[in-house]
Amino acid sequence: MVTSEEIKELITLAEKSKENSYSPYSNFKVGSGLLIEGGEMFGGCNIENISFTPTVCAERTAIFKAISEGKTELKAISVITDDDQPSSPCGVCLQVMAEFASDDFELILAKDKDTYELYKLRDLLGRPFRSSRPIGQKQRSI
Ligand code: THU
Repeated sequence: MVTSEEIKELITLAEKSKENSYSPYSNFKVGSGLLIEGGEMFGGCNIENISFTPTVCAERTAIFKAISEGKTELKAISVITDDDQPSSPCGVCLQVMAEFASDDFELILAKDKDTYELYKLRDLLGRPFRSSRPIGQKQRSI
């Protein structure tokens, strides 16, 4: 379980990361803070593109930074926006979380340091896409 001290730190990191948001098309700044087992943290912001589809969300930026540094034990993530209520990660980000984190992965959806909602991944993504069969296996010919 994430501690209340870690929650405060993750929200502070998300707020700081939000300042780096590159969002000239939506004007919707998002910041995220990711906690790795052992205590290391990675920040992330949304990064948009004039061609729109290459846009990446704050949560995926933080997760991909961690994974690319070999840190795969994800414990909790915070998200903050300028909206007047806490925002949930989009479905794509939740699916990326499901790839690397357990269903107990904790999400801190923050409005500010003192106003946040705490969820587990299973609350927000009830049935992630997973396969019992190795993906990439050749289809049997009919
Ligand atoms: N966005 C995020 O960064 N995280 C989310 O979970 C939802 C949306 C970004 C993508 C885009 O830059 C902007 O918010 C508006 O959709």
